[in-house]
Order: sequence, then structure tokens, then C-alpha cells
Amino acid sequence: MKFTKTIEVKNLFNKISYKYDFLNNLLSFGLHKLWKRKLVNLLEPINGEDWADLCCGTGDLAFLISKKVSPMGSITGIDSAGDILNIAKKKSELKKNKFIKWEIKDVLEINNYSKNFDGICMSYGLRNLNNVQEGIKKVFYLLKDKGRAGFLDFNHSTKNSLSDIFQKIYLRLIVVTISRIFNLSPEYAYIEKSISNFPKKNELLKIAKDAGFKKVEYRTLFWGQMGILILTK
Ligand SMILES: C[S@@+](CC[C@H](N)C(=O)[O-])C[C@H]1O[C@@H](n2cnc3c(N)ncnc32)[C@H](O)[C@@H]1O
Repeated sequence: MKFTKTIEVKNLFNKISYKYDFLNNLLSFGLHKLWKRKLVNLLEPINGEDWADLCCGTGDLAFLISKKVSPMGSITGIDSAGDILNIAKKKSELKKNKFIKWEIKDVLEINNYSKNFDGICMSYGLRNLNNVQEGIKKVFYLLKDKGRAGFLDFNHSTKNSLSDIFQKIYLRLIVVTISRIFNLSPEYAYIEKSISNFPKKNELLKIAKDAGFKKVEYRTLFWGQMGILILTK
């Protein structure tokens, strides 16, 4: 069964796909690249391992991981929105990267890769899933024993903390204002709503433990604006 949120999210990312990379660079002042590198460095993918970048979008993590796991391993980028995945494919062609496999698929509906991956990464994807618990359970199911997973996303800070106030000002004044220039303000206003529905640090750690992960860690980046969840099966 397809959830309403899943379809809305797919339409949203198809709609913004043509400006996705441009706005990501502009709105994060290029910092998203540093945070993605940080995530990949913490996960330490190595040559010969099989990895998946879930909710890969235009494939930033997949490109970083392909450098680490090639030539003996594999990396598969998976996303449910065809238009954004086409941009990832075009980037592969431009970079002459034939190593990454791209698949259009809803993460919550993947069933054919049970215990297939040494590692799984996701940036800014978990928050967009219809159900975060199901997403983490799915990652557990897809990982080989002792496999590891890492998730980068906005950190849902405590209400009215400095970092929460800063995040709201940034999202309302910078993100929504700039995206309005491109007629995409409702789509970018969605970020604040999605963070408010996203589990906080301790809730994420509990969900991961309940899913069966043996080691669970969470760290914040950029004065609490971003969070990285690292899990080991
Ligand atoms: C904010 S973008 C992140 C893209 C990329 N990982 C990045 O960090 O730039 C979220 C992505 O998750 C994808 N997505 C959302 N729900 C999904 C689902 N259920 N299955 C697969 N992809 C999904 C969207 O299509 C979108 O490309």
C-alpha cells in the first residue's frame, strides 16, 4: 500500500529536482558537502564492500562511497522520485562513473536485498519517510550481520533551545525567502514541518535499539543544527 505522505514527498522531490543541487549548495552555503563527507568518514566504507545510498536524490553520498568501495565492491543508489534520480544518472555520465547502480524504488518497499549490504547510508531521507521506525527496521533487514548504517539529517532540537530558535530563523528567513525566488517556497517550507514530526535524538536511539541494532550513537554537527546517527548491527 502506498501512503499519502509517500506520494506527496515523491511529487515534491520531482518538482524541485531541477533546482535541487543548486539550492542545496546555496541554502547550506556549501556546508552539506562537508557534513556528507563527515558521515562517510565515520562509516569508513572500504574497497570490496557492498553499499546502498537510500533516498539518494542526486547521489552525493553514492559518489563519495563509490570512490571508497571500488573497484571490488558495489554501491547502489535508490530513490523513489524518477526526476531526481535522472539527475543522479546524468551526473554519473558526466563524471564517467559507470560503477554506481541506480534504482527507482520506494525504500519501504525494498524486499529483494535481504542481508545484502555491508553498509547503508542516508542523508536527509529518513525524515521524509512515511514511517521512521519502518525505515530503520528496513535498514536493519537489508544489512549483513555486523553491517553499519549512517543517517545524516536535521537535528530536532529541544523546543525553544538556542539551536531550535536558530533553526527556525534560518528556515523561515533564509530557506523560504530564497526558495520563493524560484517559486518553490511551499516545497521548502515543508522542511520545518518535517523536522517537527521527526524523532529527537533519544527517540531515534530507542527506535534503533528496538529494531535490533547492537551499537547506536548520535552526534550533532554545526551547533546542533544537524545530527548523525550511526548504527551497527
Ligand atoms: C532531501 S532529499 C535528499 C537527497 C540526498 N540524499 C541528499 O542528501 O542530497 C530526500 C530524498 O528522499 C527521497 N525519498 C523520500 N521518500 C522516499 C522513499 N520512501 N523511498 C525512496 N526515496 C525516498 C526523495 O525522493 C528525495 O530524493
